[in-house]
Amino acid sequence: MQHGKHQPDVAGTRIAELWGILPEEAGRIELGDGSGELAIGGVGVTELAERFGTPLHVVDEDGLRRQIRRFVDGLRARWPRSEVLFASKSFPAVAMYRAAHEEGLSIDVAGGGELQLALAAGVDPTRVHVHGNAKTDAELRMALDAGVGAIIVDNEDELDRLERLLERPQSLLLRVIPGVEAETHASQATGGRRSKFGLPLDQAERAIARMRAHPLMEFAGVHLHIGSQILNTRQFAEAVANISSVGEFAGYDVGGGLGVRYTYEERPPSVEEYLDAIVAAAREHLPADAKLLIEPGRSIVARAGVTLYRVVSVKRTGDVFVAVDGGLADNLDIALTDQRYEALLANRIDEPWTESVQLVGRQCESGDRFIDGAPMPAARVDDVVALAATGAYAYTLSNNYNGALKPAIVFVRDGEARLVVRRESYAELLATHAPALPSAG
Ligand SMILES: Cc1ncc(COP(=O)(O)O)c(C=O)c1O
Repeated sequence: MQHGKHQPDVAGTRIAELWGILPEEAGRIELGDGSGELAIGGVGVTELAERFGTPLHVVDEDGLRRQIRRFVDGLRARWPRSEVLFASKSFPAVAMYRAAHEEGLSIDVAGGGELQLALAAGVDPTRVHVHGNAKTDAELRMALDAGVGAIIVDNEDELDRLERLLERPQSLLLRVIPGVEAETHASQATGGRRSKFGLPLDQAERAIARMRAHPLMEFAGVHLHIGSQILNTRQFAEAVANISSVGEFAGYDVGGGLGVRYTYEERPPSVEEYLDAIVAAAREHLPADAKLLIEPGRSIVARAGVTLYRVVSVKRTGDVFVAVDGGLADNLDIALTDQRYEALLANRIDEPWTESVQLVGRQCESGDRFIDGAPMPAARVDDVVALAATGAYAYTLSNNYNGALKPAIVFVRDGEARLVVRRESYAELLATHAPALPSAG
């Protein structure tokens, strides 16, 4: 049975366009009174909000797995000696590592915590690559003990550490700065001249020579990542061309960064257009027998996720402020990268959008605003708002600002909802403060 895939247009709304931003398995379901509401994976938003509370991250599991296979199958078809790694920083949930592993992705982790989550999910350690511009001895030891597939070396101090720590052969790649100023928010650009990640091309040679000279270091190639939410495929091709100047190696990891559609205005390249661009550049500039690796994060998970909130208050002060029960504590990107979103009054989707509102959060910052000018019907307290395309970098950046509790995550599929991360509790919030609690003395 197909659940919730009815995607009607509604006069006086842009919902027909919104279906292209919401998860693939989003649709309208009809309630007992004949009105329509948003369903994801066949489960209605009111049921989700009632069962699991809000804010709630909801992931369309079928859409997610389909998107993974677009990358894995698409790259393999174009460049058979290839590997797609999931940049797990974008959504480090055990259930996500599991789904990624089951669908044929390898995993990129940035730090000991992500490594622990991946291993706990049952990911084969030989399919894990370890990133970070400031890896500690403890993290490197953890990675080496786990038997990870590769470590992406950022700098020569890290080589000093590895010289001390290595006891058996280890595959290593070197992160280089490809000299591409990515057209994206400054905090998301990582490939330009002043990047803190990796070594400039003219310093790569010495680091590579050190690795090649060491008996336990297996130098496997170079790595680059120009940044995130990049909408111009020419920039990826330029990076591939630039790093080919470092030399001919067994492997080239050209990072992640493909942008996704958050707003009506954005027109990101498709997965196929992105793969065509990097593979065309690889054919032109890289050795034909080299291994080609990519590390998408955002473009794998963003669309599959929505976040549900309850309306807490509607205030008319000249502006209409619709305030919900979450904010930058569960979606830091609204403040960190000025990320723009689209939203839907999800329990009343048949109604025309008659107002333009300030959709704001409950945290104590004026930057805690989801949308400046969100069109919707006149909202009421307890309505359910769905923020679209929150699958990437929302859960992972959640924090306890104003004592907020980190939200739960459910995976939905075929009319069933599965809790995969439970909501943080006040007891957990207090637990790390135990040494200072009066009762501790
Ligand atoms: C090294 C590396 N690879 C891949 C990614 C994933 O980028 P995106 O989520 O934009 O695809 C990142 C993101 O910061 C990164 O730092």
